[in-house]
Amino acid sequence: MFLTHFVLCILYTMIIGAVDCFPRKSTLSKLSINNSQNATGHWNSKIQFEHGVVNKQGSPLDLKLEQAIVSSERDDVVLITANFTVPPRSTPPEDYELIPGLGFYKLHKEPENWHTARVMCRKEGAYLEIINSHFELSVIKMLFDRNPTLTDDWRNPYAFVGVSDLQKHKTFVTIFDEPLNATGYSNWHPGQPNYDGNCVVVQRTGQLHDTGCEIKFPFFCERGL
Ligand SMILES: *[C@@H]1O[C@H](CO)[C@@H](O)[C@H](O)[C@H]1NC(C)=O
Ligand SMILES: *[C@@H]1O[C@H](CO)[C@@H](O)[C@H](O)[C@H]1NC(C)=O
Ligand SMILES: *[C@@H]1O[C@H](CO)[C@@H](O)[C@H](O)[C@H]1NC(C)=O
Ligand SMILES: *[C@@H]1O[C@H](CO)[C@@H](O)[C@H](O)[C@H]1NC(C)=O
Repeated sequence: MFLTHFVLCILYTMIIGAVDCFPRKSTLSKLSINNSQNATGHWNSKIQFEHGVVNKQGSPLDLKLEQAIVSSERDDVVLITANFTVPPRSTPPEDYELIPGLGFYKLHKEPENWHTARVMCRKEGAYLEIINSHFELSVIKMLFDRNPTLTDDWRNPYAFVGVSDLQKHKTFVTIFDEPLNATGYSNWHPGQPNYDGNCVVVQRTGQLHDTGCEIKFPFFCERGL
């Protein structure tokens, strides 16, 4: 179901030139092309495509290689296309949603204190959410939007994320000890942090607030691809 599909599409022209025509950049992938002409005028090319991590079964399945001559008024070119599928590294955890290219996500609707939330994510092979981009924030907002009522009190607009200043007062870091300002997303609500607590929640609107770690909130868990 969650098969990753890659199409490697290389245009190899008689003039030096290799055009990479990936539909979308994947942070998991690396492409290298070597192209040189020898003394008799032959072009020798080597193309390597490295797909990040794979599961224990390893090798790509159903590799299909095609070549064709594509003619235009200007030139004839050789078009080489490789199609293959790499299975997901591991099966998605139950109740987690795969966001392609990003990770697996789950909104725990039952409120817990920050420490319990952290432990519960870990037990599921995940970790308490760390927002690294506006795109990831949009995933968080989507999960919030699907659940307009999480609690029926003032806590409803908030959920815990994996950020606190428990180790050093007024220095907010992630559960991996990374400074908040290095995560790629550190958009505090105006007036926040006001140091009324050591743990961080994200609001439905996207802004961060510090709050008491013992207060129970819904929370997001995340797992890498
Ligand atoms: C391409 O050529 C360079 C220099 O000759 C070499 O270091 C590199 O390993 C080659 N890469 C591939 C994919 O063959
Ligand atoms: C150039 O490469 C072609 C194809 O690999 C080979 O047949 C030919 O002998 C090479 N020429 C020289 C001078 O190495
Ligand atoms: C490769 O994938 C493309 C679509 O992405 C498809 O049109 C084409 O037929 C496939 N080629 C092979 C050999 O499976
Ligand atoms: C991030 O925060 C640390 C400690 O609070 C500070 O030393 C550093 O300059 C900040 N970096 C940026 C890019 O704001």
